[in-house]
Amino acid sequence: MKKKLLALTMALVLGLSLTACGSGGDDSSSGNGGTPSKENSASGVANKDKPLVWYNRQPSSSSTGELDQAALSFNEDTYYVGFDANQGAELQGTMVKEYIEKNIDKIDRNGDGIIGYVLAIGDIGHNDSIARTRGVRKALGTGVDKDGSINSDPVGINIDGTASIVQDGSIEVGGKTYVVRELASQEMKNSAGATWDAATAGNAIGTWTSSFGDNIDVVVSNNDGMGMSMFNAWAKDNKVPTFGYDANSDAVAAIAEGYGGTISQHADVQAYLTLRVLRNALDGVDIDTGIGTEDDAGNVLSDDVYVYREEERSYYALNVAVTAENYQDFTDSTKVYEPVSNQLDSGSHATKKVWLNIYNASDNFLSATYQPLLQKYDDLLNLEVEYIGGDGQTESNITNRLGNPGQYDAFAINMVKTDNAASYTAILSQ
Ligand code: BGC
Ligand code: CA
Repeated sequence: MKKKLLALTMALVLGLSLTACGSGGDDSSSGNGGTPSKENSASGVANKDKPLVWYNRQPSSSSTGELDQAALSFNEDTYYVGFDANQGAELQGTMVKEYIEKNIDKIDRNGDGIIGYVLAIGDIGHNDSIARTRGVRKALGTGVDKDGSINSDPVGINIDGTASIVQDGSIEVGGKTYVVRELASQEMKNSAGATWDAATAGNAIGTWTSSFGDNIDVVVSNNDGMGMSMFNAWAKDNKVPTFGYDANSDAVAAIAEGYGGTISQHADVQAYLTLRVLRNALDGVDIDTGIGTEDDAGNVLSDDVYVYREEERSYYALNVAVTAENYQDFTDSTKVYEPVSNQLDSGSHATKKVWLNIYNASDNFLSATYQPLLQKYDDLLNLEVEYIGGDGQTESNITNRLGNPGQYDAFAINMVKTDNAASYTAILSQ
């Protein structure tokens, strides 16, 4: 049975990558016969000097989190666009804690004085996932120090509270003290290697609830894809609040049906910045144009929605908690951010070609929220973007489709693994 399943998955994966390669082949048919060309014949700019933006996955070591400065400063026009992972993680932890405090009279389902939660971890080597695990453990008092920061490893099963990776926390409400316990957590990675895997989370909640269901009072997830999968599989029917991250439209809608809350990472601001830094570099204008400084069409961002850290060459959008109190304002996650929704003039901002990849074409957040936003901003910014979807597992599936960098004016990259920036810059340097 297991073997059959594996064979089936392998066949599926192979099928997927074949179609993926097939379609990639088409768009690189003209010109250079598959070998990377040194420069764009139209612009005369060498590939290594073209604007480059890393987004959503910051070049960094997946074991230490240390930033890959070489990749972040590959050339003068290289930037990263993401969001403030620590600020968001802290918001998520606080949101869960406040929910427990507010609902203390009904949250302890089996009345044993222990508030038990389970946690779905996205990718143990991804900075954002690590930050979210830490943020939840910090707010709930379940974190344990490891080398100066909170241990973010999955605990596996900790039903009796004896694990050493986490500890029991406590919450005091109305003079009464409750124990808070991380009953279980695991990385949601499927057998083919894809991380942040929603289906895996749906299976995990089934396994957990069949052995200790009554003990689970709260479900927490590093993102909404996995959170919604657990909500739909079990938590919704059992009225157990579930907390995710991303503010995807389906998760926001589920708040009306008992989903506890989520965090907006301001994808509307990030998608704009991703393309805006390329636009500015291509126009040869100050990088702050249309960002902190109003552009000729009236686009500008206020500093309560992003920060720029020059030493990291990085733009970080700020996060907002989305709960029963304010979810009505977040129902469409693909709506452009109004202050930066003005069309650029095509005379002074001529159309340019951008190669952009998404590490996993079926990543919930990137496909349901981020890409639709990019597709709206590319029109507003007069960019013709070629969207390449990866399989979420193999970098070469994507780099193989960067065979003709000479045909593009700029690049936007979303790596499978944050350590792999050199696989891309090597191609651009050839
Ligand atoms: C999102 C996840 C997503 C991941 C992909 C994160 O910022 O919260 O939902 O799977 O990016 O890299
Ligand atoms: Ca309990």
